[in-house]
Amino acid sequence: MAVGEYKPGLEGVPATQSNISYIDGQQGILEYRGIRIEELCQHSNFLETAYLLIFGELPTAEQYATFVRDVTYRRRIKYRIRDMIKCFPESGHPMDALQSCIAALGMFYPLPDLHDPALIYDASARLIAKMPTIVATFHLMRQGNDPVPPRDDLDYPANFLYMLNEKEPDPLAARVFDVCLMLHAEHTVNASTFCALVTASTLTDPYTVLTSAIGTLSGPLHGGANEQVMKMLAEIGTIENVRPYLERKIKNKEKIMGFGHRVYKVKDPRATILQELAIKLFDRFGHDRYFDIALELEHQAKEYLGDKGIFPNVDFYSGLIYRKLGIPTDLFTPIFAIARTAGWLAHWKEQLADNRLFRPTQVYTGLHNVPYTPMEKRVSTSAGDGVTRMASSSLP
Ligand code: SDX
Repeated sequence: MAVGEYKPGLEGVPATQSNISYIDGQQGILEYRGIRIEELCQHSNFLETAYLLIFGELPTAEQYATFVRDVTYRRRIKYRIRDMIKCFPESGHPMDALQSCIAALGMFYPLPDLHDPALIYDASARLIAKMPTIVATFHLMRQGNDPVPPRDDLDYPANFLYMLNEKEPDPLAARVFDVCLMLHAEHTVNASTFCALVTASTLTDPYTVLTSAIGTLSGPLHGGANEQVMKMLAEIGTIENVRPYLERKIKNKEKIMGFGHRVYKVKDPRATILQELAIKLFDRFGHDRYFDIALELEHQAKEYLGDKGIFPNVDFYSGLIYRKLGIPTDLFTPIFAIARTAGWLAHWKEQLADNRLFRPTQVYTGLHNVPYTPMEKRVSTSAGDGVTRMASSSLP
């Protein structure tokens, strides 16, 4: 393998063939199964979009009604999963709680035949259904409260907000949240979806596939950015501080959270839609001054980053919407995971249909034929420092 063929982060390297979604990073276009995201956000909802992504086409009225019914009646979680959540530390991150529960879920629902369409459908409906319940259950229990059971009479977005806030949401709030879920549902071969593909290619079960993907999404360079954006806006604090903040970050070559994208070199089309949704929410439920700071940051960042094709991405405005919906900041990434479950399942199913185990190669940069050094002749190197530091720490 020639060194020249190595692309760090596999940048620009096709890792799969797929017809699930399409991005044009220069034009700022995103399509799910060929339908523009703007069209779907105007006419569809998350469950219908999830069906489109996983099963390849928009459902008929009967297919949609069946899918909604099947997801609705799979929302509840086993009491043993609830008991497991009781053992988690209140200070634990909800993404770790979610990942642990999804891994455990697989023990209750073994899949004897990965290629059985009925079992793929059943597992997909169950995972779409249970992700919100797990997130809401952890949130209530970490406060010492009993979880609120899902309500079958509420639709998918309204039921999550109900389980979380213990009251029925305003219809506009539920619709805005529904569109947020659609916007986060799928995005070609992003890091967590690539991880899902690799795990799926080993022919393990979908619960394990999602466990891998959830862990990957949690990083601040990927799904964790929405939480970091809110911390950034709080740190900036006022519109007057935007420029000094920007100048300091650029000078220190530090990344501005919620900006930039490996594919989009223009503003992420999802950020544009989220910005419009935020305005609708603030018009109805009251303004948020952090939005003014965000708008000023976007405006001023153009001077420093615009020429490099660095603009707001999906994470820049999403947190402002969730905050207005009364959602705690550390639940922003779990909500991203709830939505992206649709995309992960779609790619899992597509990989299974024409599977080849992922096993790339490497460019070896190490030594060969190194002789074994007896213990008494070894000297410590910088590589070994971590071991001595760990030994002296107070951690159990
Ligand atoms: C998501 O892949 C997906 O589709 C992901 C996602 C999805 O739906 O699944 O869209 C969701 O993860 C969105 C991204 C959320 N992450 C962030 O907002 C974190 C901040 N963003 C950056 O870390 C960064 O933009 C990435 C990781 C998103 C993409 O970066 P790349 O493609 O790896 O680019 P890079 O780090 O190599 O940077 C190239 C240049 C560098 O400058 P130079 O060294 O060439 O001078 O651009 C600069 C970087 O310093 N740069 C930034 C920047 N992002 C890149 N400078 C300041 N602020 C930033 N945010």
